[in-house]
Amino acid sequence: MTFANFSDRTVHVPIMVDEIIELLNPTEGGIYVDGTLGGGGHAIAIYKKIKTKGTIIGIDSDKDAINRTESQLKKIFCNNNSDSLIHSEGAIRLVHANYTYAQEALKMLGIDKVDGILLDLGLSSDQLNDTERGFSFNANGKLDLRFDTSEDEPAHTLVNRLKEEDLASIIFQYGEEKYARKIAREIIVTRKTKNIETANELAEIVRNCVPKKIPVNRRYNSRSIIIDPATKTFQALRIAVNKELESLKTILNIAPKILKQNGKIIVISFHALEDRIVKNTFKNNSQWNIVTKKPLVSSKTELQKNPRSRSAKLRCATLINE
Ligand SMILES: C[S@@+](CC[C@H](N)C(=O)[O-])C[C@H]1O[C@@H](n2cnc3c(N)ncnc32)[C@H](O)[C@@H]1O
Repeated sequence: MTFANFSDRTVHVPIMVDEIIELLNPTEGGIYVDGTLGGGGHAIAIYKKIKTKGTIIGIDSDKDAINRTESQLKKIFCNNNSDSLIHSEGAIRLVHANYTYAQEALKMLGIDKVDGILLDLGLSSDQLNDTERGFSFNANGKLDLRFDTSEDEPAHTLVNRLKEEDLASIIFQYGEEKYARKIAREIIVTRKTKNIETANELAEIVRNCVPKKIPVNRRYNSRSIIIDPATKTFQALRIAVNKELESLKTILNIAPKILKQNGKIIVISFHALEDRIVKNTFKNNSQWNIVTKKPLVSSKTELQKNPRSRSAKLRCATLINE
């Protein structure tokens, strides 16, 4: 775990900011964990409410996100770019780590419990736009797909190493892709002549296995959205290399230990696998009082401005028993 220092602007548009602020109701002097800092949009909105007396701990496993957001925050909140984001009474503390280390991060910062936790899962538009890291299907970047490039195995080694049935299982389970077997077969056939190294190479293999569809999102009918046939396979590999579902289960277990009584947790998920974990954790643990009986989704206005918000589901719960 390292505490941060970089530049460049974020292109990520934060989702359901008003809803998050209303639910979290950050108060002056409050302490909040943003476990998925990304471009800092949510963290900034929370920080404006807690003012300089409060503390926000922004965690991200992507070092670029931490560096970019630190530089952005300094431009917004410090007179001089070299000023510290730590004030005498409060602070914005940025931590490069997996959010599963939230408890350790708080300990290192001398914080025992917090008023709220926000998790906005998945990947950011900054990562999607980065042509070097494999998140963007049409780029020639290395098929990496890790949020933290210093940890674990990149997707290209996984794709070139796994047996056909294991590949099919990952693509089917984490991508809910019905053509998983066909894709895994085609990967194995390709591997006989050359390794699969780039995002574009894998995307082409998948596109040859999956029929092209142009679904129209019913809540977003002013424009149709073309979903690349490679989307589900890339989602599956990303979930596998980042151990995303395991991390989510871990933080939901840790959350009651780091939240104050009546503290709130908000989780925004982007696919059914994540949402199911959040929903069942809140439902099956009497420590949680569910605030959102049904998940909140983006308004029509937000959907029109930010199509990426179409699959977002927000769930919120309050800790009633420490
Ligand atoms: C959807 S973006 C968050 C955007 C952010 N809320 C904003 O307003 O800009 C998700 C971020 O979470 C990070 N992330 C995903 N899983 C993580 C994990 N287990 N631990 C820490 N960060 C994680 C990703 O690197 C990415 O930057």
